[in-house]
Amino acid sequence: MIKQIQQVAEVAGYLWQKGWAERNGGNITVNITDELDADMKSRPAIAGPFAIGLTLPYLKGCFFYAKGTGRRMRDLAREPMQNGAIIRICDDCAHYEIIADEVVMPTSELPSHLSVHNYLIAKGSPYKASLHTHPIELVALTHSQKWMEKDVATKVLWSMIPETKAFCPRGLGMVPYMLPGSVELADATIKTIDDNYDVVMWEKHGVFAVDVDIMSAFDQVDVLNKAALIYIASRALGHEPEGMSDEQLAEMSKAFNLPK
Ligand code: 13P
Ligand code: ZN
Repeated sequence: MIKQIQQVAEVAGYLWQKGWAERNGGNITVNITDELDADMKSRPAIAGPFAIGLTLPYLKGCFFYAKGTGRRMRDLAREPMQNGAIIRICDDCAHYEIIADEVVMPTSELPSHLSVHNYLIAKGSPYKASLHTHPIELVALTHSQKWMEKDVATKVLWSMIPETKAFCPRGLGMVPYMLPGSVELADATIKTIDDNYDVVMWEKHGVFAVDVDIMSAFDQVDVLNKAALIYIASRALGHEPEGMSDEQLAEMSKAFNLPK
């Protein structure tokens, strides 16, 4: 099996173990265009064409693995090709076809995933994977508007433990509540990624993360959620956590050569 799809299956198992993937919660897409040989690429469609709902010119000739809509991460972990599918973007860049292995309709969040891949290719980014998941503690933060203000959560989360800034150097972008699966949510997600975030919070819903591969996207979310857990554990002990000082954070940035 394609290496990137094996990695998706591994990450899907972690999402379930973490309690971030109730029922069919969350979805993953990976751009596998470079991993498919010519034979695979020329396979006839087994279903489609289906409309994406958007025209995405940079996706011409691209292939993706996508989790199936309504499918469980815990099932995908065991059987990735029965709970997800390989899709080919049609030449009009507005439709896709399913080419393998089975007719599994892709995730309802396909507009967000594919628009983000389109944006990443247009920018010349090496990122190939996008992850949407429901991390409990990060979602809990978004139930208060103070945490939705730009970079409020980023600053607190970075200050909980030094590794957060080192391994999630762009912090956590914020998108106000919008209907799951909508084109508006896709547009707002791209705008936030363009504002230089790899991990975007969807208010009262979940996160959307991008990185070179799915393991790295998962790691960024895991690091941020760990910081949220430390914040909440401190509050549960009865104190407002001190957080690392601005000087300590600046020292981290310098030592790790971080962008902000
Ligand atoms: P899908 O089962 O369609 O991927 O939806 C899950 C989800 O988390 C929607 O936001
Ligand atoms: Zn969701």
